[in-house]
Amino acid sequence: MSKKGFIFDLDGVIVDTAKYHFLAWQQLAKNLDINFTEEENEQLKGVSRVRSLEKILAWGNKTISQDLFDKLMGEKNEEYLSYIAEMDESEILPDVPKVLSFLKDNKQPISLGSASKNARTILERVNLKSSFNAIVDGNDVTKAKPDPEVFLIAAKQIDMKPEDCIVFEDSVAGVEAANTANMISIGIGSKSVLGHADYVFNDFTEISEDFIKSLIEK
Ligand code: BG6
Ligand code: MG
Repeated sequence: MSKKGFIFDLDGVIVDTAKYHFLAWQQLAKNLDINFTEEENEQLKGVSRVRSLEKILAWGNKTISQDLFDKLMGEKNEEYLSYIAEMDESEILPDVPKVLSFLKDNKQPISLGSASKNARTILERVNLKSSFNAIVDGNDVTKAKPDPEVFLIAAKQIDMKPEDCIVFEDSVAGVEAANTANMISIGIGSKSVLGHADYVFNDFTEISEDFIKSLIEK
């Protein structure tokens, strides 16, 4: 069988942590008297912590000092980590282990490509760290999605050319990053949000082994 590089985003693709980011940002925004909608929240998915807070402040027309900015980022992360501390394998999204095993059995290289600085902690909590041949996360990049940097590094670490990589992403910014990297983008979520992806599925239960095989042979 030929080889493709499979790159997975983490939050909202492998585990349902997107809801925890949302809860933590919402709490913070409420304290600042800022309201943001679910639709605006889509713009926070895949986006770095710094960029997320900048966006929320812009929605609320607020400017704050650098010291307060740093303090709020720390508070958001602590709140987020308190949710993560309770996580276990039950929060792995449906059929993700099945797809990872199928790829492993077929000797396809697998990499993580996440914006999160908490990615390794989360993978350890849900016992999936050993499923990845490489892990690239928010600690390894200088440019946030939609910049393709995270996926380009992920491809390099598994010795694959970008055009031979397939990216699973739940965020608008992440699909854009995959497309810019010249990779095949697979959106996990709704077509109305991720219409710019090459393929879109609601979740991994809709992704058949035949479909994955067809990507490998492409
Ligand atoms: C992405 C999430 O995976 O990671 C974003 O989709 C989040 O919502 C970003 O802001 C950074 O994560 P963290 O854990 O470093 O704050
Ligand atoms: Mg995501």
